Amino acid sequence: MKQIQTLLGSSLLAGVLTLTCGPAWADDAQAQLIDKFQQGQYSGKGADGCLMCHGRDEQVTALFASPHGSLDSSASPMAQLQCETCHGPQGQHRGKNEPMINFGDDANVSAELQNSVCMSCHEDGGRHDWQGSRHDFAEVACSDCHQIHTASDPVLSPEGEIATCTSCHSGQRADMNKRSAHPMAGLHSGSDMTCTSCHSAHGSLTESALNQVSLNDTCYQCHAEKRGPVVWEHAPVTDNCTSCHDVHGSVNDAMLTRRAPQLCQSCHASDGHASRVYDGQGNSAFVAGQSCLNCHSQVHGSNHPAGSLFEK
Ligand code: HEC
Ligand code: HEC
Ligand code: HEC
Ligand code: HEC
Ligand code: HEC
Ligand code: HEC
Ligand code: HEC
Ligand code: HEC
Ligand code: HEC
Ligand code: HEC
Repeated sequence: MKQIQTLLGSSLLAGVLTLTCGPAWADDAQAQLIDKFQQGQYSGKGADGCLMCHGRDEQVTALFASPHGSLDSSASPMAQLQCETCHGPQGQHRGKNEPMINFGDDANVSAELQNSVCMSCHEDGGRHDWQGSRHDFAEVACSDCHQIHTASDPVLSPEGEIATCTSCHSGQRADMNKRSAHPMAGLHSGSDMTCTSCHSAHGSLTESALNQVSLNDTCYQCHAEKRGPVVWEHAPVTDNCTSCHDVHGSVNDAMLTRRAPQLCQSCHASDGHASRVYDGQGNSAFVAGQSCLNCHSQVHGSNHPAGSLFEK
């Protein structure tokens, strides 16, 4: 019965949110469902009773091919109140006469209430930063990403995950199709790189919900050679890789935010010889080809004794 207590606990909070933010949900229907939960009239027939009417719907019965329909685990909903673990007590429900809690596209209660049902079993390791995450604040529901009545939840496969995330994050979908981008699953055969190679879908303590303690540590998971320490450090590299790289994709080589010399001059405009770039020749080493990188080729830092200017 833990999930019911959780649900009722959050419903108080949901009430407060409704007062301050205006009604986002059909309050009558939600109030009716909360009331039903309090009455707690569970069916004596379990799933069998539900399946008398819902058993011919293949989408519904697909549940039995998923972990939530498994009969061998004591942690499974099937070992508990079965369908009513998630959809709430049947009460008088026989169809339209009285609603059941619903999720996904046809949800009839707030995301917070839906999520409290799932969290009654899943508030473990992977979800401890969910509360207060941007997805939580934005009222994204667990079932916006996860499907329950299916043998394999699409978001748990690399390609399915990217499709799910970019269905809301269209900017990142556009970026990953740019000329220079990470080899994302589905776009590059053999790659299983996904959004969660860098992000935590369930929130984290870092800005932008990264899956490591800092932005650079996120990159070092795969680009360990950039970690250093090096004898001659280039300050922005140790500070933040995104000073120079657009990590979701860019029209410039190496996912650079801009090309050299502009990239370098965004910080070094008035330094030393940089003014020579504007000499109008167009073919000097300062602007042609690799530009500043012709000479300062070790832009990520150098271990050479004479590498202080990143030339070697
Ligand atoms: C682990 C939680 C969970 C359990 C257990 C569960 N469901 Fe569901 N149910 C959902 C979610 C979430 C959806 C939304 C669609 C999806 O994600 O697959 C849903 C959708 C439905 C729908 C479709 C409603 C619509 O919008 O058309 C019906 C009907 C349904 N479930 C009935 C059942 C029956 C019957 C059982 C027991 C055999 C059951 N559910 C067990 C979570 C659950
Ligand atoms: C006597 C037949 C019958 C029984 C028994 C029954 N349902 Fe339903 N249920 C329906 C019908 C019909 C609908 C579609 C109502 C509509 O289209 O609005 C429905 C809708 C639903 C929905 C969608 C949400 C909603 O309220 O519209 C869910 C979820 C659901 N039922 C779950 C269950 C569960 C879980 C059980 C068992 C505890 C169950 N039903 C028992 C007939 C039944
Ligand atoms: C009664 C407890 C219970 C509830 C409620 C519940 N789950 Fe689960 N869930 C489980 C168990 C048990 C498993 C299988 C073991 C595991 O992976 O932890 C599982 C597995 C999962 C998985 C992994 C599936 C896979 O194929 O590996 C996802 C994702 C998930 N649940 C999401 C949800 C969502 C979303 C909800 C709410 C709609 C929900 N769960 C509600 C108990 C529950
Ligand atoms: C933004 C999309 C998204 C949302 C929202 C989301 N998940 Fe997930 N979830 C994922 C992805 C992607 C994975 C697989 C990669 C991973 O484990 O991080 C996953 C994995 C899982 C797993 C299986 C692996 C594990 O960590 O145990 C469970 C259980 C789960 N999610 C439960 C939930 C619950 C409960 C909620 C709601 C509080 C939720 N998820 C909300 C995307 C999401
Ligand atoms: C290579 C690592 C990496 C991958 C893969 C990645 N991201 Fe990011 N993402 C980041 C970093 C680092 C930031 C923070 C800095 C920034 O905005 O550039 C970020 C920021 C974000 C933001 C917040 C942007 C803002 O303006 O607040 C969103 C949303 C986002 N990513 C979504 C996605 C989605 C969706 C995918 C998969 C299609 C994805 N990311 C793949 C590293 C990554
Ligand atoms: C149902 C739509 C939806 C889906 C699906 C979705 N997101 Fe989001 N995401 C949002 C919203 C809304 C925000 C709030 C920020 C905003 O206003 O853009 C957000 C914010 C983020 C942020 C910024 C977090 C922060 O703390 O700054 C990241 C990163 C992100 N999403 C990654 C993902 C990833 C990875 C997936 C897939 C596993 C995903 N999202 C799926 C709607 C979605
Ligand atoms: C999950 C592993 C992974 C993570 C995490 C990761 N990368 Fe990458 N990165 C790759 C792979 C794979 C390539 C392609 C390498 C190749 O083509 O040889 C790549 C390529 C690059 C490139 C070169 C692109 C080009 O066109 O030459 C840059 C720049 C880059 N990553 C920056 C970053 C930054 C910055 C981060 C952290 C925000 C990051 N990466 C996190 C795996 C990762
Ligand atoms: C000062 C700007 C700057 C910063 C900051 C920066 N890079 Fe780069 N990066 C470049 C330039 C310019 C190139 C292309 C020239 C080259 O290959 O060295 C590049 C190329 C790359 C490449 C592809 C070629 C290679 O060297 O493997 C990777 C991977 C990469 N950067 C990762 C990172 C990571 C990870 C960080 C953070 C630790 C980072 N970069 C920080 C400027 C920068
Ligand atoms: C985000 C800002 C930023 C960008 C972009 C940037 N740098 Fe730097 N660079 C710095 C900082 C800060 C230092 C350290 C300056 C100091 O210690 O006086 C530095 C130091 C240097 C030095 C050593 C100078 C010295 O006096 O020790 C060289 C050479 C250099 N950068 C070249 C480049 C080149 C070439 C690029 C373009 C590929 C570039 N930088 C892009 C911020 C940047
Ligand atoms: C033809 C080779 C060459 C090119 C191209 C080049 N540099 Fe240099 N750079 C040098 C040498 C040699 C020094 C040390 C002597 C000096 O200060 O002129 C230097 C010094 C520097 C310093 C340190 C200046 C100081 O005050 O200590 C910075 C910063 C710098 N370069 C940035 C750049 C930027 C930005 C570009 C591109 C716009 C660039 N360089 C292009 C050769 C080059």
